[in-house]
Amino acid sequence: MSLASAHHPLERSPLENANWPASLADQGYAVIHGLIPDELCLRLQTEARAKHHSDILERAGVGRTDDFTLDLTIRRDKTQWFDRSTSAQTDYLDIMETVRQSVNRELFLGLFSYEAHFAVYEPGGFYKRHVDAFRGARNRVLSSVFYLNNDWQPEDDGAIVIYPEDDARTEPLASILPEMGTLVLFLSEDIPHEVRPTHRDRYSIAGWFRVNDRQTAPSLQAVSGIVSGTL
Ligand code: OGA
Ligand code: MN
Repeated sequence: MSLASAHHPLERSPLENANWPASLADQGYAVIHGLIPDELCLRLQTEARAKHHSDILERAGVGRTDDFTLDLTIRRDKTQWFDRSTSAQTDYLDIMETVRQSVNRELFLGLFSYEAHFAVYEPGGFYKRHVDAFRGARNRVLSSVFYLNNDWQPEDDGAIVIYPEDDARTEPLASILPEMGTLVLFLSEDIPHEVRPTHRDRYSIAGWFRVNDRQTAPSLQAVSGIVSGTL
């Protein structure tokens, strides 16, 4: 059985299609299944669990890198940056490089580099609604989250909830369970999102595509108002 195809009905949405660059351009986010081979999913899951159980993940903080605070009322997860020390990491980064090239070819975003970290949210863990980049101030352009959990049930919660760009509208665009093999992409400056409190250990890889120089980089969408938030 393919793990990647065993997603929960709640995740189904019209955006789950092969033409994910168009979804990204039209909606600001896309959900992709089947991009990461099952055997690589398992190696990444094994590595994330091992890091968690050997207690080498760090409490994540909030804010710009020069203004970093540990605020447990905003987020509660533990992370470790990829350092290319395992073949699972390099294989994942190689696939993300193909994503980077597709996005640049089809959406002209000028993405230049990618960084990623493992994350675990333990039971009770969450990340309140935020955007991943302050508009104009940072060079994170496209966010990615890849999930590493088998048999996730709706009652386990821990969904990522994606909101429309317009801050006044509170109805979510999507609520996606963190099931193994699911990759979510969204525009870092435009798309508010949150991680609902989880009831199980919730493993993922969060990553960000950056441009080299935000001032000269092309913009996918016209800037319309500022969504405030935290990193
Ligand atoms: C983040 C984030 C979402 C998720 O790390 O910035 O929003 O589903 N993660 O883990
Ligand atoms: Mn985020």
